[in-house]
Amino acid sequence: MTSVGIDAIEIWTGKLKLDLPGTFAPAKGEDPEKYTKGLGLYASSLPDSYEDIVTMGANACKRLMERKGLTPEDVGRIDVATESAFDNSKPVSTYIAGCLEQVFDGDFRYANKGERKFACVAGTQSIDDAYNWIRAGRNRDRGALVVATDTALYERGDSGEATQGAGAVAMYISEDPDLVELSPEQGYGSMDETDFLKPNQQFPSVDGKRSIQVYLARMREAVEDYESVGGDLHPDDFELLPFHTPFPGMVRRAASLAYRHTIRDTSIEEDLADEIGRQPRPEAFDSEDEYLDAMGEYTERLVETDTYGEWYDRVVEPTLDLSREVGNWYTGSVHVARASGLQHALENDWDLTGKRLAVASYGSGAQAEVHTEVVQPGWKEEIAHLNVLEQLERRYDLAFEEYGKIHDTHNHDTDTDVEPMTTPEGEFVFDGWGRMGERKYTYVE
Ligand code: COA
Repeated sequence: MTSVGIDAIEIWTGKLKLDLPGTFAPAKGEDPEKYTKGLGLYASSLPDSYEDIVTMGANACKRLMERKGLTPEDVGRIDVATESAFDNSKPVSTYIAGCLEQVFDGDFRYANKGERKFACVAGTQSIDDAYNWIRAGRNRDRGALVVATDTALYERGDSGEATQGAGAVAMYISEDPDLVELSPEQGYGSMDETDFLKPNQQFPSVDGKRSIQVYLARMREAVEDYESVGGDLHPDDFELLPFHTPFPGMVRRAASLAYRHTIRDTSIEEDLADEIGRQPRPEAFDSEDEYLDAMGEYTERLVETDTYGEWYDRVVEPTLDLSREVGNWYTGSVHVARASGLQHALENDWDLTGKRLAVASYGSGAQAEVHTEVVQPGWKEEIAHLNVLEQLERRYDLAFEEYGKIHDTHNHDTDTDVEPMTTPEGEFVFDGWGRMGERKYTYVE
């Protein structure tokens, strides 16, 4: 079977930075440690006044296409995953194609363009669509551009304001990929849930505490569903475990449950038995509540062990480095986590070729998806090209009053215009409105 997967990845961050412990927490009268220790976040990336989901997505695609030497004719699909779309009919992918056609020779007229919506899991679903299109033999030697792009802004004063972010991840999905091959096996956990939604409104209605519970429940189902086709997962089977990361504290919880689940009936559980006992089994309890309480206590003991700590620091922690600095990018978040882990692996000279990652995506509403990936020989060269750390360094550090103005500028209900805080260079920018209310874009040299 031909190998299909992610050939290349590029990341484009919003060009502004809101320092959460340094600027946001003091202005809100909160303890900075709520951010650094509680949520695990240091900063949010935010879009300057000339940036939006189209500019960030197009800028990421341009970098990717130039680096890989791709022309529009090499691209048979452009799928955009977003929960920040501004049009109920015309897909964001058409705008992105229009931007790219300003700078590349040729056009994307024979590419199938679409837009995927299922909260944060839509980026992974778009990769699925591309994978299936290639596997079906309909791609005619072409690959697919998948763009996960979002401005994750919450209403001022909403508790979600702590977890904002803005950025885009562009990926090229192809045969014989240079970065990772995707497993045909997948697991899903999907139920009708009301944890986070935007019913015809720009900013989300979110029940944050419920979304945490729903994330964990659906993720557990996705793991079990994966295991029903891919066999039992074992913690030593994969080198990195990128999760959807609305904030790193969420991943801390999910990872402990994943570890507990995957060590059951293994030598790891046995080796830990003297220190913390064996995992409770439901048949030993009179009620489910008693069983769940005992399981909760076991997990608390488990995460305090050196065995867990070493696993977490090696397999999960590296996937959170970028997220701590950028916040939630919704559809892009799990793909930022993968890139973060691979970047850490490169910096630390890990030999990952042929090794496996387990990737755990989630979207509110709600659906989790789990699959595995095999790292390909070209991974080092691919990851070495990422310049996301330089982009993060260059961000403009907002004062609290400036943050308020930028938030207003991006609020569709307010008519505020602020001078940009940064100067665009070599990138696409939002350039006003057309006669039918369409958004217009220009490339700035
Ligand atoms: N020192 C250390 N930790 C602290 C602290 C301090 N001074 N102050 C608070 N914390 C901890 C809290 O105990 C809590 O951790 P816990 O949940 O492990 O107990 C964490 O920091 C957050 O504090 P909390 O008071 O719960 O924050 P909040 O009411 O502002 O809500 C979210 C946090 C995450 C629920 C909220 O930001 C949100 O809804 N975000 C959106 C979530 C989302 O996007 N969901 C959909 C996609 S999954």
